[in-house]
Amino acid sequence: MSEKTTAAATGASATEHFRATVNGAADVPPERVDALVNDVLQSVHATIRAHRVTYSEYDALKAWLIQVGRDGEWPLFLDVFVEHVVEEVATAGRAGSKGSIEGPFYVPGAPEFGADATLPMRDDEQGVRLTLHGQVRSVDGTPLPGAKVDIWQDDAAGFYSQFAQNIPEWNLRGVITADENGRFRIRTIQPTPYQIPIDGATGALIRAANWPAYRPAHLHLKVSAAAHQQITSQLYFPGDPHNETDIADAVKPELILQPTPAADGIDVEYDFILDPA
Ligand code: DHB
Ligand code: FE
Repeated sequence: MSEKTTAAATGASATEHFRATVNGAADVPPERVDALVNDVLQSVHATIRAHRVTYSEYDALKAWLIQVGRDGEWPLFLDVFVEHVVEEVATAGRAGSKGSIEGPFYVPGAPEFGADATLPMRDDEQGVRLTLHGQVRSVDGTPLPGAKVDIWQDDAAGFYSQFAQNIPEWNLRGVITADENGRFRIRTIQPTPYQIPIDGATGALIRAANWPAYRPAHLHLKVSAAAHQQITSQLYFPGDPHNETDIADAVKPELILQPTPAADGIDVEYDFILDPA
């Protein structure tokens, strides 16, 4: 890579992308704003009292908040430290498969493929070959023909296309349409543990607190079918030491794959069970 991928560059792309695709101005009723903001502020006030926060610590906080914005890192920071609880609350009533956080790097509109697909990748794409196959079913066991599996992941160097330099636009991203039995087969590479960009404001915090800066290797997926609730999920690999220390707290036991060796790499089977809408 000639140009370096910096936290500020990744953050700026993530911020730009969020602003272009998500309606952040959605109406939240005043009673909700009042209740939520009051509770957050009361927690902050309680923390200040409990820890006898000093003016120099208060100024460090201000400087840091300003820098997170300047680096465009709010999407990265929030998705790492907050989204997992929003996901937990949003999916608490589900009977089907567990999900996980979306994170900051999803891009809608990836190239579409049939039920047996190879994700777009470079001729010299590095990494262990991985085949992910399975079936999409409803909670009552009925297969869901034509279900969509939208998948995205990092490359062997830990970078996501469209958020790092010099990677083809849709590299390791695709939308697979399952067959008439809800089955799909996706050929890709094994993803890599992802290091939170450490040269920006989020990295400064991680270093200042002496926290681990990694997410375990993961595949991201959105699985949807007619008349069913979409699942946003992540799949992980057994034995990854970062599974226990994921900085985004987004690993669940149900999301850890059981790979088996294949001639050209590894093979994993995983079914998705969707709740009716
Ligand atoms: C972040 C990156 C990820 O790949 C992910 O899945 C979640 C969060 C981040 O850098 O904020
Ligand atoms: Fe990710």
